[in-house]
Amino acid sequence: MTDRKTDYPALPLFTDRWSPRAFDPRPVDDATLFTLFEAARWAPSSMNLQPWRFVYAKREDAHWEAFLSVLMETNRLWAQNASALLYVISDSEMEYKGERRPSHSHSFDAGAAWMSLALQASSMGLITHGMAGVDFDAARSIINAPEGFRIEAAIAVGYPGAKADLPEALQAREFPSDRRPVSDIIVHGPMAG
Ligand SMILES: Cc1cc2nc3c(=O)[nH]c(=O)nc-3n(C[C@H](O)[C@H](O)[C@H](O)COP(=O)(O)O)c2cc1C
Repeated sequence: MTDRKTDYPALPLFTDRWSPRAFDPRPVDDATLFTLFEAARWAPSSMNLQPWRFVYAKREDAHWEAFLSVLMETNRLWAQNASALLYVISDSEMEYKGERRPSHSHSFDAGAAWMSLALQASSMGLITHGMAGVDFDAARSIINAPEGFRIEAAIAVGYPGAKADLPEALQAREFPSDRRPVSDIIVHGPMAG
């Protein structure tokens, strides 16, 4: 439960999800992790192509350190306490009439899948934190991303930790953020020229 205020009524699951940095460094079991992947699986996508893939490491895995190493230092600082690190990648091409063609919506589709995963996690008392602060070239080789796949973001998944364990500068930012008003994000009719 957060004290975020909505302009209009919406399901609390949307305002309850936020992106903490304080993680409790404990393992997550496969049953829990796969429930998150299951939620992602049901996201809608253009032509139901499901272009997303989640390339992951759990903190006890041999490849954990490598997966962590390609995050920007500012993210590694706290993400090292996550239970799992996911790289969300998506296929920038699609099969159409027997041909490989550029996909218009692969990133949009992958975004829907990540949000499904994040909401499922939040509803189970887990936390998620998306990261674009990644050395994407290094990540590409660490996770061995197939050609044509875009690395969208990294996601830290885990359990809530103590804010007091974060460096002071991060403690000051450890609260659910606000949003622009609804009126800022909508345009009724064509946009002004
Ligand atoms: C694709 C993506 C990339 C992000 N990159 C970072 C990042 O590199 N480091 C970080 O601390 N937070 C990162 N964030 C978290 C956002 O800053 C956060 O989601 C946003 O401020 C809204 O806050 P909330 O998720 O707590 O509601 C990222 C979020 C997304 C969705």
